[in-house]
Amino acid sequence: MKDKHHHHVDYDAEFINPSKDVVKQALIKDYDKIYKRSVEDREGFWAEEAKKLTWFKKWDKVLDDSKKPFYKWFTGGKFNIIANAIDRHLKNWRRNKLAIIWEGEPGDVKTMSYHALNREVSKFANVLKSMGVHKGEVVTIYMPQIPELPIAMLACAKIGAIHSVIYGGFSAEALAGRIEDAKSRTLITADGGFRRGNITDLKGIANEAMRRSATIEVCIVVKRTAQDVHMQGDRDFWYHDLMALPIANPKCETEVMDAEDPLFILYTSGTTGKPKGLMHSHGGYAVYTSTTHKYVFDIKDEDRWWCAADPGWITGHSYLVYSPLINGATLMMYEGAPNHPYPNRWWSMVEKYGITILYTSPTAIRGLMRFGESWPNRHDLTSLRLLGSVGEPINPEAWKWYHRVIGGGKCPIMDTWWQTETGGFVITPLPITALKPGSATKPFFGHEVAIVDEQGNQVADGEEGKLVLQAPWPGMARSIWGDPDRFKETYWKDYEKQGWYKAGDAARKDKDGYFWIIGRIDDVIKVSGYRLGTAEIESALITHYAVSESAVVGLPHEIKGNAIHCYVILRAGMTGNKALEEELKEHVSRELGPIAKPEHIEFVDSLPKTRSGKIMRRVLKARALGQDVGDISTLEE
Ligand code: PRX
Repeated sequence: MKDKHHHHVDYDAEFINPSKDVVKQALIKDYDKIYKRSVEDREGFWAEEAKKLTWFKKWDKVLDDSKKPFYKWFTGGKFNIIANAIDRHLKNWRRNKLAIIWEGEPGDVKTMSYHALNREVSKFANVLKSMGVHKGEVVTIYMPQIPELPIAMLACAKIGAIHSVIYGGFSAEALAGRIEDAKSRTLITADGGFRRGNITDLKGIANEAMRRSATIEVCIVVKRTAQDVHMQGDRDFWYHDLMALPIANPKCETEVMDAEDPLFILYTSGTTGKPKGLMHSHGGYAVYTSTTHKYVFDIKDEDRWWCAADPGWITGHSYLVYSPLINGATLMMYEGAPNHPYPNRWWSMVEKYGITILYTSPTAIRGLMRFGESWPNRHDLTSLRLLGSVGEPINPEAWKWYHRVIGGGKCPIMDTWWQTETGGFVITPLPITALKPGSATKPFFGHEVAIVDEQGNQVADGEEGKLVLQAPWPGMARSIWGDPDRFKETYWKDYEKQGWYKAGDAARKDKDGYFWIIGRIDDVIKVSGYRLGTAEIESALITHYAVSESAVVGLPHEIKGNAIHCYVILRAGMTGNKALEEELKEHVSRELGPIAKPEHIEFVDSLPKTRSGKIMRRVLKARALGQDVGDISTLEE
């Protein structure tokens, strides 16, 4: 069952059982029983979870599947995620509980109780209203990891505006494209942020983006670094100036929304063309993220939860901001790099704040593992009870290091498989699950998951196939912003007859029913857990004067999981050399953002194409890896 690609994975590995202590505390004691119930009576299961939240008006129908694949959940219900993430905690002792502990990269610290968070969010919600932001409009947020970022998201949600957070590592071009797609009038940004000891130029990039896309009328700027930035008099306002005005009243009614009203859009890379804005709703998303968070990470009132993701990605939306607040937890947020100023930065924060649950990516683990055990060993990490992993497959070496060195051998690792589209965890262990390093184990409640071939037949145990989700769930994306046809086409067309969701991942299921994710089967590359489209990188390359054509593939990389390799055909008369390689790498980094900077550029004379002219990236990849190129009967010559 072992292949070249996954020679480290051991499908027959021995189970690693959770410690008695963890099991004793676990909220869920019997997975099989609850799982069975949850798929036999899916609507009943989700209704029961939904009842634990606060509704302005109860729903009429749990699931409306009359317009498949545009499923609706809790229709007729009146709801706002803020009534749950903030308002309800103000009515009990949690009012004075810490909601957020934040540490900046330079070492500055801010903490906020639920009471204080409510005041900030309400004040900013009133500011937004006074700037003309209304229910249903898209507000773009482009910020470093500072408390004002969740505050801005929550303020939008409170007044019914739809937020669109763009990761702070994206370029002006990427930002402009997303602003334009959403026809966003309002942008919230900062002068800059601190990263690896450097200051980022967020406002400069935002200015450039606003020059390229003309829809922004109001730009609100948080002062974080106090560097000099250009402010345009009639458009740009300082956040602290607005928050000091009488209009920034700390009392603001939470808008009553329909359960299905959009909460946010989040752009993510797809197979072809421009990134798509996945849309998530208030009601179903709140129910799904809070339920998955609570059961998978066994959230208790005394927990200190640290999701070390940037709010600019779905992990940050679902598990840094929304679900921990809905569950009334204390969350940790950190602005900067894990190894700044030294590789013990994270471990020192775990110790300092008494973090009980840490959720991060395999890339971060591998990156920190590289510095050796002496760094974590300097710190008392015994506050930790559970660990988590997300974003890409975790190789057993990294898993075991994380388990032994960080978790002291007593913290189970929740390897959660999910996507921007799913809103929350889909395949994941629970604290009671017997683990196999490298496997995301089993489906969460309410899910039916299968590994199938092109026709939809289940493949045999141990065989590689396509991962499909066979039943709807409340946290599923509702559509693609402005392009419902693309939503249908991308996720639902391949298994239209069966009505299944195609995840775009290849996976295996072993004889014990455990799932092993292999990776993307489409033209999406996960680089350091970031999701990038080959099409985006290729279009960025093509805008360079020297490039005539290009093809991009992801090849295995020890730390990043995958790295970007570009094959480039130059225009006539151009010569490929080291200098041009560097220039093209810089060009892509400028066009898309530093996360998309290619690892390697190779100049070629031709690219393998099908007779209809489609580039066969699969062939390029196989060749680069020295593997059999497989079926090339459709190859041009
Ligand atoms: O390939 C899978 C991988 O990340 C993809 C989704 O990327 P994105 O929408 O950016 O969301 C990432 C955070 C949820 C998936 O199609 N992926 C995510 N989690 C895992 C994973 N691959 C293996 N194991 C995981 N735990």
